[in-house]
Amino acid sequence: MSTASAGSLQASLANRTVLVIDDSEAVQTAFEVLLSLHGAKVLAVASPAEGLAALACGSVDLVIQDMNFRREATSGEEGIALFREIKARFPDVPIVLLTAWTHLETAVELVRAGAADYIAKPWDDARLLTSVRNLLDLRSARAEAAALRSARREARAALAESFDLRGMVYESEAMHTVACTATQVARADVPVLILGPNGVGKEIMADILQANSERATRPYLKVNLGALPTELIEAELFGTEAGAFTGARARTGRFEAADGGTLFLDELGTLSGSGQAKLLRVLQTGEFERLGSNVTRRTRVRVIAATNINLRQAIRAGSFREDLYYRLSVIELEVPALAERREDILPLARHFLERGFALAPAAEEALLRHPWPGNVRELQNAIRRACLLAGGSVIGVSALNLPPVTAPGDEAAHLDRSAIEQALGRARGVVARAARELGLSRQALYRRMEKLGLRAS
Ligand SMILES: Nc1ncnc2c1ncn2[C@@H]1O[C@H](COP(=O)(O)OP(=O)(O)OP(=O)(O)O)[C@@H](O)[C@H]1O
Ligand SMILES: [Mg+2]
Repeated sequence: MSTASAGSLQASLANRTVLVIDDSEAVQTAFEVLLSLHGAKVLAVASPAEGLAALACGSVDLVIQDMNFRREATSGEEGIALFREIKARFPDVPIVLLTAWTHLETAVELVRAGAADYIAKPWDDARLLTSVRNLLDLRSARAEAAALRSARREARAALAESFDLRGMVYESEAMHTVACTATQVARADVPVLILGPNGVGKEIMADILQANSERATRPYLKVNLGALPTELIEAELFGTEAGAFTGARARTGRFEAADGGTLFLDELGTLSGSGQAKLLRVLQTGEFERLGSNVTRRTRVRVIAATNINLRQAIRAGSFREDLYYRLSVIELEVPALAERREDILPLARHFLERGFALAPAAEEALLRHPWPGNVRELQNAIRRACLLAGGSVIGVSALNLPPVTAPGDEAAHLDRSAIEQALGRARGVVARAARELGLSRQALYRRMEKLGLRAS
C-alpha cells in the first residue's frame, strides 16, 4: 500500500465506530487490531441480537457482519435476516458482509440494495479497508447532502411563512435567491422584467410578485403578446372605440381594466414597434387612447413583463426599443433553467405526480440525467403523461418516454463532483462501471472527471 492511500484511509476511519457482528473471537480480534490501527473505534459482538442492540444505542458508522452465528449453521439464513433487519431499521448505516465463497451469489444479490459490500473469507486486509473507506465516504457525502437539503427546505419554509409563494416548489439555492428577491421587490411599485427560457416558471414568479404586492386584492390581468396577431394586440391592450375599424365595437383594453392593479405582459419580445411606442408612453405618463379615439385616458397599472428572448441582443438588432427596456427593467429577475438547478428536478417531479403514484428509483435517475430543454413545463408534461401510461402505480423509466440525450461531448455536463464521486465509490473506482451506472460512455465520464480535476481512486 502506498503512503498516500494509507493517509487517506486514516482520514476516513479516524473516530468512526465500526460494529463487528461475528461469533468467532478470532475474527473479532483480527478486526479490532486492523481497524483500530487506522483510528477507528471497534465494537465487537457475537450475535444478531447484541448487534441490533448496539445499533439502537446509536453512533455506529458501519457494520461488518458474518452470515452465520452458530458453529453448526452454514446456510447464511441468519445473516440474511440480520442484514434485512439492519437495512430496514438503520437504512443509513452501511454494511460489509463477510461471506464464504459458496454464498457469494446471495451476497451479491443483497448488496444490490446499495450502501453495502461483501468480502469473501478469508479476507484481504487492503481490500477490506478500501471497501470500508468507500462506504464511510459515501455515507458522509450522503449525510452532508441531506443536511444541506434540509437547511434549504427550512429556508424555503421560513420564506413561505412570511410570503405567499403561490405553491412554487424548489430546493435549489438558485431558486431560493430568486424567490427572496421577488418577495422583497413585490411591494415596490415599479415594473419588473422576468427573464428566462421557455417553461421555466416565469409566470409563477409574476404571480408571486402580484400576490405579495400592495395591489394583491386589485385586478390582475395577463396578456400573452405572443399568442395574438400583431394587429389585435394594440386593441387588446388599449381598447377600441366603436367603428375604429370595420366591425369594431367599443371595448375596454387591458390597461383600462387593470387600473389600480397589475398587468402581466408575457412574451414581451414579440411586441411590434408601434406597440412598443404606446407601451412606453403609458408607462411614462399613465396616458393612452383607445384605438379610433382621440380621448386621452389615464390608468395606474403596475406592469410585470416576461420574455425568453435576449432583449439586449434585440436592442442591438434594432427590434426592441432601448428606452422601453430601461423603463421595464427597473428590477430584473432571472429564472434559471432547470438544468442549472438539478436539485429541483425530483421535488418538482413528485409534486406533479397524480395522487397514489410513485417513481421507481431508476425513473428518478433517468429524470436526473435528462437535460430538460423545455424546463419545468417539459417535466410537468412528462410526469402527467407517465401517470396516464404507467401500468401500475409505480412509474418506471419506459413510462417517462424521455428522448435520448443528444449533444455529444456535453452529455455529462450536468453531473457535479459529488454525483461522480458517489458513482465511483459504488463502482470501487472502476470508471467503466461508474460510467455505465451514470448512463455515459467511459470517454464522456473521463472528460468530465478531467474537467472537475477528479481521479479514479
Ligand atoms: N417552481 C415551480 N413549482 C411548481 N410548479 C412550477 C414551478 N415552475 C413552473 N411550474 C409550472 O410549470 C409550468 C410552466 O411554468 P410557467 O408557465 O410559469 O413558465 P414560463 O416561464 O412562463 O413559460 P413560457 O416561457 O413558456 O411562458 C406551469 O404549469 C407552472 O405552474
Ligand atoms: Mg409563460
